[in-house]
Amino acid sequence: MKEDQAAVDARPAGKRAGRTLVAREQRTTVGQIQVDNPRMSCRNVDVYYNFGEKQAINNICLDIGKNEVISMIGPSGCGKSTFLRCLNRMNDTIEGCQVQGEIIMDKKNIYDKDVDVVPLRAQVGMVFQKPNPFPKSIYDNIAYGPKIHGLVQNRDETDELVEKSLKRAGLWREVKDRLDQPGTGLSGGQQQRLCIARTIAVNPEIILMDEPCSALDPIATAIIEELIDELKQEYTIAIVTHSMQQASRVSQRTAYFHLGDLIEIGPTDQIFLNPLHQLTEDYITGRFG
Ligand SMILES: Nc1ncnc2c1ncn2[C@@H]1O[C@H](COP(=O)(O)OP(=O)(O)OP(=O)(O)O)[C@@H](O)[C@H]1O
Ligand SMILES: [Mg+2]
Repeated sequence: MKEDQAAVDARPAGKRAGRTLVAREQRTTVGQIQVDNPRMSCRNVDVYYNFGEKQAINNICLDIGKNEVISMIGPSGCGKSTFLRCLNRMNDTIEGCQVQGEIIMDKKNIYDKDVDVVPLRAQVGMVFQKPNPFPKSIYDNIAYGPKIHGLVQNRDETDELVEKSLKRAGLWREVKDRLDQPGTGLSGGQQQRLCIARTIAVNPEIILMDEPCSALDPIATAIIEELIDELKQEYTIAIVTHSMQQASRVSQRTAYFHLGDLIEIGPTDQIFLNPLHQLTEDYITGRFG
């Protein structure tokens, strides 16, 4: 049962339903960082910007479970996007950004020197906050990646994959008669589904989403959330969101970040109803962020 907000606010810091919370000063992660069936395991991940001048995330250890949806939440600037970008080495594209530690997938550290980031970024795809279709037709937005990665050999195979990807992203019905028109001409919500279809088309296993609904209206958001729920049958999804309601609706586990530290990780219900750390409690009750 949800507590009355006034009752939550009146409760003395340090206690939650009679339990003692972990003190604000303690910055080691509370909760189960490991899962039974990990798809990726992050160990001691540090990220620095400006050639080491600024540390953005500190010693993060976290498993991402196969076929789970995991949310990353926390106040602005706490390192959610930075952490997400570690998972497919997108931070490599930022000058002066350095990543340390290990991210193990298939028994290999994705930061090993011999890892080719091009197939890695197909396997671990990313959807951004602002939909960013290529300045190409709807068809070519989807066909481009599979062609580059050699997943299709001829027009028939390409047609089939374009249709399948758009269907999976729940966009086919709306665009099947205008595939030759520019992707940028779609509505924001449609563009975001186009970007999801484009990510799916290259056969990823993991999809990273950085606030994928923050530029969308509630209806488009609901469509994307339904889609996330369906996609988790086949994919592993890590999503950054500022909406606690969204995290509650779509994810099974939630990670709470604060000033570069992973403070708490646990089942989503527990994080929002019965957190173990005072900083998580502060955030979900609106005392911080
Ligand atoms: N390219 C960059 N160069 C230097 N510092 C950066 C860069 N990107 C992020 N930072 C810094 O790293 C820290 C974490 O930023 P990050 O963008 O990961 O936070 P966030 O949790 O995603 O925030 P938001 O909720 O606002 O998106 C912040 O202090 C930010 O200023
Ligand atoms: Mg961010």
